[in-house]
Amino acid sequence: MHRFALDFERATGRAPRQSRWLAHDLDALGLMPIAEAWSSPAPLVDDDAATGWEYVMAGSSLGARYLVRAVRRLGHTGERGARFLERHGASEDWREVQHRLSAVDTADAARLARMIDGARDAFTHVAACLARGADPANEEHVL
Ligand code: HEM
Repeated sequence: MHRFALDFERATGRAPRQSRWLAHDLDALGLMPIAEAWSSPAPLVDDDAATGWEYVMAGSSLGARYLVRAVRRLGHTGERGARFLERHGASEDWREVQHRLSAVDTADAARLARMIDGARDAFTHVAACLARGADPANEEHVL
């Protein structure tokens, strides 16, 4: 998720937020934060594609609200291991993206297609990031 957050922030030009929370968690758990964007996606020049990426990141805060409950039961806190899930889940990002989407003219098929392509690209990128994180040959996290 840290890898995706870094790449998301690079692609959308958003200020680093999720990546900083995740870096804090990794550090608190004795894991090495990733130093830089992994695949270095080019910054998105298309605002609609960026909205698609933002839909995916903001939507993941819904899962974070759910996951943080289980992570707290394991003893993690905002200071130790659960900062990302706590702050991401409590953020206004999802409401903000929904608000922006509600203003989109749904008859504008070209615009919708650009947003959907952006969201699909972001989901594909999430999958690639998670696959790399799960690869035992990839030991870049271990301190
Ligand atoms: C980076 C992308 C995303 C990741 C890594 C992610 C991950 C997860 C995970 C791990 C769960 C918990 C599944 C479980 O254990 O049952 C979850 C739940 C959920 N996710 Fe996602 N998700 C992402 C994007 C999204 C998006 C885009 C949406 C909606 C627009 C979304 C909506 C939800 C909802 C509604 C839940 C269930 C929450 C509940 O049961 O209370 N997620 N997600």
